[in-house]
Amino acid sequence: MEKKSPSANDYIVIKAKEDGVNVIGLTRGSDTRFHHSEKLDQGEVMIAQFTEHTSAIKIRGNARIMTSCGELESEAKK
Ligand code: TRP
Repeated sequence: MEKKSPSANDYIVIKAKEDGVNVIGLTRGSDTRFHHSEKLDQGEVMIAQFTEHTSAIKIRGNARIMTSCGELESEAKK
């Protein structure tokens, strides 16, 4: 299959592997702070993009993350 070249508006897919996974959006610009926090329960999926307002996404808890640069899993602190 042809590998799609990464684009700035690719979607990030986050699938929660436990209850209470947090998807946190961080602001773009000189001031980097949380601007949105979304709680996902087990099996719930969030599909998000980087935008004019969001330059980084932080994920807390056990989740599967799919992006154009790869697939990985976040883990909760033990
Ligand atoms: N209002 C936010 C924005 O347009 C919504 C958003 C987009 C968001 N991507 C996100 C929130 C990723 C959290 C995580 O930027």
